[in-house]
Amino acid sequence: MRHLMSPLDLTVEELDQLLDLANDIERNPEKYAHTCDGKRLATLFYEPSTRTRLSFEAAMMNLGGKVLGFSSAASSSAAKGESVSDTIRMASCYADICAMRHPKEGAPLVASMVSRIPVINAGDGGHQHPTQTLTDLLTIRSLKGRLNNLTIGLCGDLKFGRTVHSLIEALVRYTGIRFILISPEELRVPDYIREDVLRAKNVPFEEVIRLEDALPKLDLLYMTRVQKERFFNEDDYVRMKDFYILDKAKMELAGPDMLVLHPLPRVNEISVEVDNDPRAAYFKQVQYGVYVRMALILTLLEVTV
Ligand code: CP
Repeated sequence: MRHLMSPLDLTVEELDQLLDLANDIERNPEKYAHTCDGKRLATLFYEPSTRTRLSFEAAMMNLGGKVLGFSSAASSSAAKGESVSDTIRMASCYADICAMRHPKEGAPLVASMVSRIPVINAGDGGHQHPTQTLTDLLTIRSLKGRLNNLTIGLCGDLKFGRTVHSLIEALVRYTGIRFILISPEELRVPDYIREDVLRAKNVPFEEVIRLEDALPKLDLLYMTRVQKERFFNEDDYVRMKDFYILDKAKMELAGPDMLVLHPLPRVNEISVEVDNDPRAAYFKQVQYGVYVRMALILTLLEVTV
């Protein structure tokens, strides 16, 4: 039985197969409509979510399966003090596979150690968000045609943004990747990403503060919101929250093929006037998230079609 805690749990070859499967699902959805008949997905979400939880649920329903779960710690027996380990033991009796989001780093890993069903990390604190990374990789590969030879700008809260950490770890395995890390001083990537991932693998990167300087050089801009829920102090959040706003004027500095991705939710960091720009891919990204989660469920349940 396999779990998914980090994108690195999949080899590059397995990742390619998963993305191929997701593209086949996109082209032939009817072929997969009953592949999970009789199967159940539990969504155990201790933290708010729109896309991840609903896309997991849509994915399982598209495969013919059923879903059950909770959407907040307050509406589960976690509010009475039940541990994650005990909760996953319960879910193992009710479902065949589980997606878990938790504010504490490592909680899904703890669950996976006692679980009788595959556990998928649907986001753990400021640590990892592997299924967002699968979504991002599928979006990039589908719209750019490759996962190598790209200059990628990551902009915003690079300290607490778990989607950024997972995406960097996944992309350094491809050739010709170069990062421009765009953030205020206080929200730079954690040291372990800079030293143990980027420098250790000799991946070229630069850290800059001004988005305007980076835009002309990019194949892809990955915007992120400032993660309000991870700040200890409201004043710091207020000072940082509108540091970057991508608008029409800034988009004019970018190349004609530069894609704009965002894991969403957005707050103010992308102006709505950018939404109709053909380079804005963040709503297409949401649709790719359903296909790739369908592919992941099939893979972890070892369903062959
Ligand atoms: N991208 C993402 O994780 O969105 P949600 O928090 O709405 O699930």
